[in-house]
Amino acid sequence: MNNFGSTRNILDDFDVVQYKSKHLDVLKALFIESFGGIAEIRGALNKDILKYYKIVLDDETPAAVTGIVPPELSMFDGYEVSWTCTSPKYRGSGICAELLRKCILDLPKDGIPVFCDCWRFPGKQINLFNAMQSNGFQLLVPEASVFSTKFSKLCASCPYRHDDEPSCRCYTDVWKFERKL
Ligand SMILES: CC(C)(COP(=O)(O)OP(=O)(O)OC[C@H]1O[C@@H](n2cnc3c(N)ncnc32)[C@H](O)[C@@H]1OP(=O)(O)O)[C@@H](O)C(=O)NCCC(=O)NCCS
Repeated sequence: MNNFGSTRNILDDFDVVQYKSKHLDVLKALFIESFGGIAEIRGALNKDILKYYKIVLDDETPAAVTGIVPPELSMFDGYEVSWTCTSPKYRGSGICAELLRKCILDLPKDGIPVFCDCWRFPGKQINLFNAMQSNGFQLLVPEASVFSTKFSKLCASCPYRHDDEPSCRCYTDVWKFERKL
């Protein structure tokens, strides 16, 4: 038997929940695992944006999170994809891309674009390349931000920090998704 015509979705194997206050510790743990303290310093847990996160749970274990904040809370002229990560054990099976797709489908049908400030290591694709490309986003501004262990206190607790490498740095590139009305 083949899977031709199958509509199976990777998220069918999990629970996808909209953030509630009881998820705060779970969310914090997910962010710390993937970003160290940077996410908290940069406002990933600000109370105004928490309710926009969707969290993927494997029973009680947090597997992934993303969310899209509305224009009034975005730093761009449109919606903005908020802090996004998949726990290492769950990476590489399309969970993040599918979760982002679900967030986009839930947006009001208002034609307002969605922006995403995407993290990237030197000489590499953005970490979210598959999620951006498969959901129709396009690169708008390369190297919009540069982070370096030498100069930024944001790097202090980064899990990817190389103290022995004075040139350790990373970037964000801005991607945009144009939506039709
Ligand atoms: C970036 C990150 C969120 C990606 O999580 P993910 O769930 O693995 O992401 P995706 O859903 O895009 O899946 C990625 C991979 O699964 C593969 N994949 C396997 N099966 C798949 C399927 N059925 N459907 C889609 N993709 C599938 C994709 O080809 C892709 O491979 P690639 O990484 O070689 O391109 C995760 O690596 C992470 O948390 N990184 C650290 C934090 C970070 O950088 N966050 C983004 C900041 S902007």
